[in-house]
Amino acid sequence: MEKRAPADHPITDVIARRWSPRGYDASRPVSSENLMSILEAGRWAPSSSNEQPWRYLVFDRSDPEALAKAHDCLSSGNAWAKAAPVLMLSVAKRTYTRNGKSNRHAGHDTGAASISMALQATALGLWLHQMGGYDPEKARAYFGIPDDFDPMAMIALGYMLPETEIPPEILLRDQAPRVRNPVEAMAFRGQWGAGLE
Ligand SMILES: Cc1cc2nc3c(=O)[nH]c(=O)nc-3n(C[C@H](O)[C@H](O)[C@H](O)COP(=O)(O)O)c2cc1C
Repeated sequence: MEKRAPADHPITDVIARRWSPRGYDASRPVSSENLMSILEAGRWAPSSSNEQPWRYLVFDRSDPEALAKAHDCLSSGNAWAKAAPVLMLSVAKRTYTRNGKSNRHAGHDTGAASISMALQATALGLWLHQMGGYDPEKARAYFGIPDDFDPMAMIALGYMLPETEIPPEILLRDQAPRVRNPVEAMAFRGQWGAGLE
């Protein structure tokens, strides 16, 4: 299912094609080669002081017990993600390793790694969907996440079902139009609130 961004200005193809689907194909696994390429794309994201604060917990059918725990962390509105063959949890390190000081860019930089991974997934014909709807404290306890790290987003990864096989209630959500604020609402020239022209 295509949901190309109806962009107001030209953007590169992979950015236009990326979107966050829910109709995952439970029968189609992600090869370890593709998974490694997607993680590698995250590895090359920029970060403050090159701290690379991101970490990813990976869950798939090679460890059904861990995958079941990841499923148990999901909020009910994200039950669709249980069909994804891979779930990941992005985690951000709160402090700089070199001096122990607070890293206020940790969440920002972890998000940068995750979008790099989403774009790599799109380029490989795969789909990555980030989720805030999960229980971070449950995840911390289940997976032994240390105090200095913050769980960020649960991430579904896999292939999409053909449109005709997507359950109707999920299809309804997936068919919602892609909407964005105009560029003028996100970018100001020189002064807060100023126009770009
Ligand atoms: C941090 C974050 C949390 C999100 N949480 C959820 C979620 O819990 N459930 C869900 O279905 N989508 C979730 N999304 C997906 C957004 O709804 C989606 O990215 C947004 O509507 C734009 O759609 P697009 O990604 O298809 O362009 C989340 C995305 C991000 C980046």
